[in-house]
Amino acid sequence: MRKPALMLLSLIGLFDSFYLSYKHFKNIIPPCTGNIFSDCGQVLTSEYAYFFGIPLAYIGIIYYAILTVSLVTYLKTKDHRPIYLFILANSVGIFFSVYFVFLQLVVIKAICTYCMLSALVTFSIFGLWQKLFNLEKNNLVIASSSIIYQNFIKRIFFLLNPEIIHDVMVLSGAVFGRIRVVRFLFRYLFLIRHKSLHQEIFGINFKNPVGLAAGFDYNGNLWRILPCIGFGFQAVGTVSNHPFKGYNRIMLGRLPKSKSLYVNKGFKNIGSEKIIKKLEGSSIAYPLGISIGQTNDKKFVSGLEEAIEDIYHCFSSFQNSKVDFTHFELNISCPNLENSVDFYTPVRFIKLADKLKELKLTKPVFIKMPINLTANQLVSLLDIAKEYYFIKGVVIGNLQKNRKNKSFDREELKRFAGEPGSFSGLPTQKDSNDLIKTCFHRYKARFVIIGCGGVFGAIDAYKKIKLGATLVQFITGMIYNGPQFAAEVNNGLTELLKKDGYSHISEAIGVEA
Ligand SMILES: Cc1cc2nc3c(=O)[nH]c(=O)nc-3n(C[C@H](O)[C@H](O)[C@H](O)COP(=O)(O)O)c2cc1C
Repeated sequence: MRKPALMLLSLIGLFDSFYLSYKHFKNIIPPCTGNIFSDCGQVLTSEYAYFFGIPLAYIGIIYYAILTVSLVTYLKTKDHRPIYLFILANSVGIFFSVYFVFLQLVVIKAICTYCMLSALVTFSIFGLWQKLFNLEKNNLVIASSSIIYQNFIKRIFFLLNPEIIHDVMVLSGAVFGRIRVVRFLFRYLFLIRHKSLHQEIFGINFKNPVGLAAGFDYNGNLWRILPCIGFGFQAVGTVSNHPFKGYNRIMLGRLPKSKSLYVNKGFKNIGSEKIIKKLEGSSIAYPLGISIGQTNDKKFVSGLEEAIEDIYHCFSSFQNSKVDFTHFELNISCPNLENSVDFYTPVRFIKLADKLKELKLTKPVFIKMPINLTANQLVSLLDIAKEYYFIKGVVIGNLQKNRKNKSFDREELKRFAGEPGSFSGLPTQKDSNDLIKTCFHRYKARFVIIGCGGVFGAIDAYKKIKLGATLVQFITGMIYNGPQFAAEVNNGLTELLKKDGYSHISEAIGVEA
């Protein structure tokens, strides 16, 4: 019904423009001049009836011809490409229609019935295709946003200090998230609900499997805006019991040739107390994970027992708070701490897990794994983890410590010689994928896997899913591709699932493990 209606409206618009063009050509004012409602003459002879000297009626013919031809081509061939032209033309049409209606009502103070008819037709067409061509609109917005980000915004950003850009992005996200109309606009532009991506895991609704990894939103500022641009969940943090202000040396760097970021942030966060205060009382629209790690301050943590107590207190604070979160991530793998007590040594891990068991945690815990583990090391750790009821999943995994990784551009890497940090992005991809596969192979029914590391497109996310991940996370992919990246990955995933003959993501999980 909508398609014939669109066709009819396009033809009405075309006819209307032809009529006005004919009258213009013949120098005749259409018969709607001088009555109380309208004065076509005043409008059509005004300076506003021309665009760079061309009568608007002629431009109207071109505009409606584009709509009609692209629609007919789509209906005949079922090829979706002409629809992009249709959407683009109509969106430009909407912009000009609003402007022309404004001119008639406010500036010229006269109405041309035929011009108003054209505006009405354009608005109706816009309303009618919203549901019909939602995916095409979404693809168009994503593609445009990607082009703008990659060719303009990123080029400027990458000239500036990454730490400052990160702060600016988080601040903008926090401000945008508080403005209802911006949230509405972003949802309209970026969001598509794909039934094939929806999963319920431990009673938590994941509308899609694409999440923001720990390390971007340290203090819980972005939960309002991220679901509007396509994220299905996120991790806040890593949060620690006490705050950490950051280091006085390089904390963040870019390695574009290696598609990587240098990271030495060491949990730069405002501490659990302030974060809880900030989040309490808010109803959060999607699954929010709290990533917890030890306080990075020797004043508070300088040995194993203190580290365990510190982590225990942080878990306890969130468990007893009224924060609307859904799950925990336990970060045992941060490579950037001053006084790091690592918990991926089995004996230490058991001590920590035993202590956390006392809390009788009710929310699922995902262990954030290091990726520089051999398959045997991973297995010996997970054999222990599986004995703890509250450990329901693993995030695989964290940053790349190994500078010999083949994905690095050697020259680029030299800039960080002598710096103690680790690396994200492409250099993490293979190790992450290998460990996901090992984990799924051995523990498929026991642990839910969140695949993380080097996702730069839907194909990378899909690979992790086929190796055994139920959900995926990223940071670096978004920084290199733009804020539309989550929506882009979701759309790509549905296409890939369809291509492989799957009707739901669950059918693809682990098929290549
Ligand atoms: C700037 C930055 C800060 C990070 N901080 C944390 C953190 O605090 N806690 C954590 O578990 N992982 C942290 N990570 C690691 C990411 O969560 C992720 O595991 C890693 O970057 C690989 O994913 P990616 O290639 O998609 O970035 C950080 C990563 C980046 C880039």
